[in-house]
Amino acid sequence: MNDTAASPRPASSSSLIDWSDDLSVGIQEIDDQHQFLVDLLNKLHRAIHQRQGKAAAQAILVELVDYTKIHFAVEESLMRILGYPSYDDHKEQHDHLIAEIHDLQEKLESGKKSITFELLHFLRIWLTKHIMEEDQQYGPFFLSRGAVATSEKKSIAGRLWSSLFG
Ligand SMILES: [Fe+2]
Repeated sequence: MNDTAASPRPASSSSLIDWSDDLSVGIQEIDDQHQFLVDLLNKLHRAIHQRQGKAAAQAILVELVDYTKIHFAVEESLMRILGYPSYDDHKEQHDHLIAEIHDLQEKLESGKKSITFELLHFLRIWLTKHIMEEDQQYGPFFLSRGAVATSEKKSIAGRLWSSLFG
């Protein structure tokens, strides 16, 4: 994959990806889910750095795959509910991304590939390229249909309050 077109600012040495506004799609719920995916990749990065072993890394990868599937299902549901015109293309992208990560998992399980920094680089681009090139396109459309915008100024407590009583 070409990683020059879309790439967030370089991460600090302790993480693979530093969350920044460059990755925001402008919708609170989606940004929260994307941040969770970023956290999982950083967790995998730490596991490899700290040489926690293949089993630990594979367990995080399973978590990543499972959460990605849930997240994609949420995005696709929202697109259908809100009538997003590029739904078919976006769904195709999701299916391709899932196929790629399944292929990777198979290669790791069969020993054809090992969990390396090269693989982390692949996953970093796998996630950020999709967010910056595909997901950011639906942001304005979702907002125009009433999605809740990401509020930088709101504290975590404020966000929790809004989700409970808003
Ligand atoms: Fe997406």
